[in-house]
Amino acid sequence: MKTVVTTAYRPTEATEKKAQQISIDLSISFAERNKRSVEKMHEAWAADVLVAAKERLEFYPLGKTEPFFFHPNSSAFRTKRPLEKDPLIEVSGLQAGDVFVDCTLGMASDAIVASQHVGPDGRVIGCESHRAIAYVIGQGLATYDKMPHLTAAMKRIQVVNEEAVDYLASLPDNSVDVVYMDPMFTEEILEASNFTPLRAAAHTGQPSAQWIEQAVRTARKSVVLKAHYKSSDFEEFGFKRRLRPNTKFHYGVIDCRKEKE
Ligand SMILES: C[S@@+](CC[C@H](N)C(=O)[O-])C[C@H]1O[C@@H](n2cnc3c(N)ncnc32)[C@H](O)[C@@H]1O
Repeated sequence: MKTVVTTAYRPTEATEKKAQQISIDLSISFAERNKRSVEKMHEAWAADVLVAAKERLEFYPLGKTEPFFFHPNSSAFRTKRPLEKDPLIEVSGLQAGDVFVDCTLGMASDAIVASQHVGPDGRVIGCESHRAIAYVIGQGLATYDKMPHLTAAMKRIQVVNEEAVDYLASLPDNSVDVVYMDPMFTEEILEASNFTPLRAAAHTGQPSAQWIEQAVRTARKSVVLKAHYKSSDFEEFGFKRRLRPNTKFHYGVIDCRKEKE
């Protein structure tokens, strides 16, 4: 889908400059706002619309009037609890100083939790195949300053705008500690989530044998899959389910150390 960039409804010199810069960074057209609603912009350009607002970047997939923008989401409360008790940290065996590859960056909430846990001696790389999402999240991680205890962890996350399988295929064997994947659910989720505006736009690819093979090849400790509790991917690809009563999603783990013995 084509994307164009515009300013907020009432542009300022700063938002105009920001929008022009995004048009260069992403090689997309700059569209004059001319006091048009997002719906009118969608109609005029038949494209997704990125809005350079004063405080943040907003992404409106074609046909959606609710914006997608960066905010810490669940990482805000998850990082206020002991991190070693966070379900993702617990099941993955991630430790300070480790390298964590998040194959499906999305809003980056999981990546922020991982980055806070691995600390300054570790590394977190987040793959996001959707260009505009990767850009909005990359900018947010680099500039968000409303949660000072997370600023450094956010800034350390390296955003890679690439299909996860291709990124993993470029890495040497056993070169990272944990590989994590959280693809879009295929099951209908009735309650609204922060991802609701993106359901139609985000990459909806599901785990494949090639993806899991590359993940196991590159990970020293574990490969973790988050999926709907009804998903058969855990069994199909050899993940051991960690049951979480009363939750809509489960984690599954492949222990790479055992796998490679
Ligand atoms: C459910 S969301 C991930 C949410 C994320 N764990 C978080 O904490 O916000 C899935 C995201 O991964 C992206 N994605 C899905 N499959 C991908 C793939 N194979 N490679 C790269 N990105 C992918 C989608 O575009 C979407 O933004």
